[in-house]
Amino acid sequence: MEIGSDVHKELFCRTFVEGHLKFEPQDLPWPELDEKPLELLRSLQLWTHARQFEHDAGPMIEMVAKRVADPMIREALELQSFEETRHARLMDYMIKLYDLPAEDPKDFSSPDPLTEFIDFGFEECLDSFGGFGLFELVRQSKLLPESLLEIFENVMREESHHIVFFTNWYAHRETASGFSNRLLLPPRIAWYYARALLKIRDLVKVDDAEPGAAFIVTGARDFTDSLTPRLVLETCVAENERRLAGFDRRLLMPTFVPRLARVARRALSLVPGRGA
Ligand SMILES: [Fe+2]
Ligand SMILES: [Fe+2]
Repeated sequence: MEIGSDVHKELFCRTFVEGHLKFEPQDLPWPELDEKPLELLRSLQLWTHARQFEHDAGPMIEMVAKRVADPMIREALELQSFEETRHARLMDYMIKLYDLPAEDPKDFSSPDPLTEFIDFGFEECLDSFGGFGLFELVRQSKLLPESLLEIFENVMREESHHIVFFTNWYAHRETASGFSNRLLLPPRIAWYYARALLKIRDLVKVDDAEPGAAFIVTGARDFTDSLTPRLVLETCVAENERRLAGFDRRLLMPTFVPRLARVARRALSLVPGRGA
């Protein structure tokens, strides 16, 4: 299948639209939490950032969708906007239910939502890679009840669909519009990932940094004190593979970060004592 072709477009749009699940946050079986998991959730520093990230995403993608002429791509983008808005509602519901520390979200506005969406998409690929692994480590730790993790399983599943859709949408857009050919795609993608990584660096340095990379960094910092970098990387790589395994192999997958992680994992295994 030729990347950038109509067949490619139909496949990634259809895969996304058919993967949509119907649910409303308030109808999910939210568990009553004991003091220990409640304390843990309330001690996390990520709620304001994570909430703002989700609150920005829906309106931003809706603005992008409105400017897209192709009805198939517009439908998929509108659906992603709906799902991101539902993530924001899910987060609001959870923050209220468990009385979590989070500031009220600010309204989204942007003169250039398309550029923001492209940055957002690469950040999501990076965040999801870390988020999938972190989610599994939390599950294994049994620090939070399975009933709560099951609710977030919906979000994880949707994020996997978002990053596959974005990866293919971006490649389709670049090749079909003639902005650049496939040979130029890898360096452009690397450049966007470098921007996403710089945001993470800012987040580590400054507590009030932009919310984009909140989950991967602040989440990992709060949950993984006793874990080795190698175990975290291995879990992220394995979970990323597992969650993307079900997609049609003709689609492009976000491979840049997993490849980088595999190199880092190999490097760590060569350093005595780092994998213990
Ligand atoms: Fe989201
Ligand atoms: Fe998303």
